[in-house]
Amino acid sequence: MSATGFSEAHSAEIVDASFAGTADPRLRSVLTALVTHLHDFVKEIEPTHDEWQRAVDFLTAVGRMCNDTRQEFVLLSDVLGVSMLVDAIGNRTSVAATDSTVLGPFHMVESPERELGADISLDGDGEPCVLAGRVCSADGTPLAGARVDVWQANGSGFYDVQQPDSTPESNLRGLFRTDGAGRYRLRSVVPRHYPIPDDGPVGQLLAATGRHPNRPAHVHLIVEAEGHRPLTTHVFVADSPYLDSDAVFGVKESLIRPVRLVDDPDLARQHGTANPFRLLEFDVVLAPLPEQDRR
Ligand code: BEZ
Ligand code: FE
Repeated sequence: MSATGFSEAHSAEIVDASFAGTADPRLRSVLTALVTHLHDFVKEIEPTHDEWQRAVDFLTAVGRMCNDTRQEFVLLSDVLGVSMLVDAIGNRTSVAATDSTVLGPFHMVESPERELGADISLDGDGEPCVLAGRVCSADGTPLAGARVDVWQANGSGFYDVQQPDSTPESNLRGLFRTDGAGRYRLRSVVPRHYPIPDDGPVGQLLAATGRHPNRPAHVHLIVEAEGHRPLTTHVFVADSPYLDSDAVFGVKESLIRPVRLVDDPDLARQHGTANPFRLLEFDVVLAPLPEQDRR
């Protein structure tokens, strides 16, 4: 044994023992798992010094790519399926509620509060479309005053924060409150499929492994109501390319809806849009919080 007692055979136990003084029990158990799995991983792949340096360089490049509007670590977690795994673990429930999916890196600015029916497309890039639905509790009770936070990419596949110089601030973002019947409605554009940012190290990883960077067309929603578990989800557009190969594994069958062409002058007038019009309907069911977790 060497002076520090380090050996290949017992590396994980030796490092784990160095954390014995950790006061926080959760941190202690997380470190034990991290050291155990990381040492097993290194023992399995047996990296050379050069390979390990490349791994360090890769993570350094991921960190360097991050700024106020670009989160390369979130992208890395997304393309490795870890974001969806954390989401699945955090949303285990026996209650029949709307499925959750990945948050993504573009909910980085607060959505402005808007009136029901408002048009969130400020740049006019995309085919006009009404998004509407109802928010209910698991037993079917409509949830009035629920917060519905919506954001999406424009018809060219870009979020406002990706093109700050050419896109109006808060383009395609809005925070709405459901009416007395639990309904929300807004005007937007038909979402388009788009590539996740692939000009950094995560893009290089995808290219090196023959994976494409695309996500199918979708609108993001965070829905919150008193006494209910908040929901982070998307509505995906039926027939969009990439529904079966989302770069971040976010698609769930239950979240796919058609964009219908509706010919109904009265309804068009109610939505403040020309007839006929495109309509994407998405109802949301929230899981009630257990009594002890209510504020
Ligand atoms: C998004 O849908 O906005 C997104 C999700 C994961 C990675 C990149 C973008
Ligand atoms: Fe998105």
